[in-house]
Amino acid sequence: EFDARQARNYLEHITSIGPRTTGSPENEVLTVRYLLEQIKLIEDQSNSVHEIAVDVQRPTGSFSIDFLGGFTSYYDNITNVVVKLEPRGGAQHAVLANCHFDSVANSPGASDDAVSCSVMLEVLRVLSTSSEAFHHAIIFLFNGAEENILQASHGFITQHPWASLIRAFINLEAAGVGGKELVFQTGPENPWLVQAYVSAAKHPFASVVAQEVFQSGIIPSDTDFRIYRDFGNIPGIDLAFIENGYIYHTKYDTADRIPIDSIQRAGDNILAVLKYLATSDMLASSSKYKHGNMVFFDVFGLFVIAYPSRVGSIINYMVVMLVVLYLGRKLLQPKHKTAHYMKDFFCGLGITLISWFTSLVTVLIIAVFISLIGQSLSWYNHFYVSVCLYGTAAVAKIIFIHTLAKRFYYVNTSDRYLGEIFFDVSLFVHCVSLVTLTYQGLCMAFISAVWIAFPLLTKFFLHKDFKYHGAGGKFLVFYLLGMFVPYLYALYLIWAVFEMFTPILGRSGTQIPPDAVLASILAGCIMILSSYFINFIYLAKSTKRTLVALTSVCGITFLLVCSGAFFPYSSDPASPKPKRVFLQHTTRTFHDLDGNVVKRDSGIWINGFDYTGMSHITPHIPEINETIRAHCEETAPLCGFPWYLPVHFLIKKNWYLPASEVSPRDRAHFRLISKEQTPWDSVRLTFEATGPSHMSFYVRTHKGSTLSRWSLGNGTPVTSKGGDYFVFYSHGLQASAWQFWIEVQVSEEQPEEMVTVALAAHHFFGEDKRSPQLDALKEKFPDWTFPSAWVCTYDLFVF
Ligand SMILES: *[C@@H]1O[C@H](CO)[C@@H](O)[C@H](O)[C@H]1NC(C)=O
Repeated sequence: EFDARQARNYLEHITSIGPRTTGSPENEVLTVRYLLEQIKLIEDQSNSVHEIAVDVQRPTGSFSIDFLGGFTSYYDNITNVVVKLEPRGGAQHAVLANCHFDSVANSPGASDDAVSCSVMLEVLRVLSTSSEAFHHAIIFLFNGAEENILQASHGFITQHPWASLIRAFINLEAAGVGGKELVFQTGPENPWLVQAYVSAAKHPFASVVAQEVFQSGIIPSDTDFRIYRDFGNIPGIDLAFIENGYIYHTKYDTADRIPIDSIQRAGDNILAVLKYLATSDMLASSSKYKHGNMVFFDVFGLFVIAYPSRVGSIINYMVVMLVVLYLGRKLLQPKHKTAHYMKDFFCGLGITLISWFTSLVTVLIIAVFISLIGQSLSWYNHFYVSVCLYGTAAVAKIIFIHTLAKRFYYVNTSDRYLGEIFFDVSLFVHCVSLVTLTYQGLCMAFISAVWIAFPLLTKFFLHKDFKYHGAGGKFLVFYLLGMFVPYLYALYLIWAVFEMFTPILGRSGTQIPPDAVLASILAGCIMILSSYFINFIYLAKSTKRTLVALTSVCGITFLLVCSGAFFPYSSDPASPKPKRVFLQHTTRTFHDLDGNVVKRDSGIWINGFDYTGMSHITPHIPEINETIRAHCEETAPLCGFPWYLPVHFLIKKNWYLPASEVSPRDRAHFRLISKEQTPWDSVRLTFEATGPSHMSFYVRTHKGSTLSRWSLGNGTPVTSKGGDYFVFYSHGLQASAWQFWIEVQVSEEQPEEMVTVALAAHHFFGEDKRSPQLDALKEKFPDWTFPSAWVCTYDLFVF
């Protein structure tokens, strides 16, 4: 049996080591040593029907991915701890379980992702003591460089000798802290994997909607799933803790915030699924069962329903047929009636669309106004504010438009007839969305199907009542009963969407007003939720009181928000909602074509991750104000700043507070080793860099020159968003100097300057991470912020 207390014990040991950035002794030595000790203990207690092999891999490699607008990664001597559990005599096939033990800088990384490694250790312990051998091997990968944007998994899957055995994987991740782990990606294809999870997991929790949202790329995160899929060609299951994304990647991601139940739950699931896969015949011949996608979703977290998407399409089109029959019958009535119905139907459709459009415009106007006066994110700490502000506005607007239509357009039409018309209109709209989603191959179309099937059935049963009793009490009860399932399910999904998206809006950059995003999502939800209740506006006697109530709530909330009554952030220890800030104490040196230093400056470069910038910080730290807004160095790649991640297109407002020079002991050195003319008319520049664990290399080509090849990635340079090149470099505990070359193709009239390159070095741990000024500034930050601080150097050269 999986023992959550044992797993918690592992978790507390790992997090007590402190933040574990790749390359730090904490990550490369202390955590690795602890893992190896525990694995040795497990091995000693294991049953002799199993064979356990342990390997510490230190891969070096490079790749490009299109995540975050595209960039290239280079890693040297990073760490993977790999354990293979197999039957005595060996196995041909294996299932992989993956977690990462590294963390982002300045975070204990308990949920992300030490808890998963702890669960895996405990699962390994339980499996290795079982008296029966499994058919296949189980490979446990504890990877030491995931926060380095997925380097360690790449090193494993492209280089490790055991990688070729792997037929499927389970990836254990976090996008939040604690809670339940959600299956939010599976595949590609391989429906048998979803089936395996559904039948084996004790507490399955999965959503194809999450998969389709995540794979659309609107969430600025990625996982090792991508690496195994794209570089390993292996199907898998991606699980993540998603609750409480507010404190993901912050100092609050601590072990005590993970309830023991969460660990038990995760452990029970992983243990069962791994056991299932390790004895499954399908794993061995997975290619036979490869084809097709699955529709899968949990019902209120109780159980999971899964069926092939082909079956889903058939169901969906059958539902569409029902609607066609239902509406067709009405349209094929005797001619004089038909003309009447058709006209009213299309007018109803027009009014509905107008009401939706005006409702969206209304909430957007409010959102833009609130953003302009500097009160955005007022709902970040208290979610109900958004409902009282945007939700009420959207509902009121929809009701208002329909009331107008009833009053001035449908003057002499029967209420019941109108109720029927608008019911049909909603049915039609959902039918259009069902056809569109199904046609696009999106599995989430099942929601539209539910939203047609239940109302239509209700309608059939209530047929008589619709006609003869109007909005009578009995009618209402049955109507609400019929709508119960689709509405409850929609509310459940909407709740999940907000749980997921609200925290993300606290790190979605300085460019997109989060209020506009949230208001649009809310308006969209209101449109869906209102659809089968619009007919009541026509059945009801008056909507005046409802409108007055809604408008008052909206107006009062609006005034309160404008007056700044709702502060977005919170330091409440029970549920902190910190503002994320990066502080990089930087010394920059700019060289010209002749190698002379043309500019040298130092400062603390400040980045907020959300739309409010420094507006809430300035009152507490007056020296961080608009006078020190950083200006973009137009001629330098990525504006001449030491970006750690290529998020320059998301975060365009930054601050640069003058400060003294930094003097890290392990200072980066960068030099040109050679410059050669190649036989194919380009110039090859070979560089060498030495320095701390994390460095970024940026390139900008000048007019008339292009970057044709380089020794990084697969050889073809990949631009990052905006047209410059971004290379993410990291090394483990030790590494030799980083040597690489780029080739520049120069057009006929050779310009003086071909390329500008720059190297930023990030000191993420030890004494080098700190400076007295940085420490002093960090102290001044209020407790509702999470400032993550480190020291950088930045050197720019022109060739
Ligand atoms: C704004 O910041 C600058 C530089 O940090 C500082 O000298 C100045 O006093 C600040 N202004 C105010 C009004 O505090």
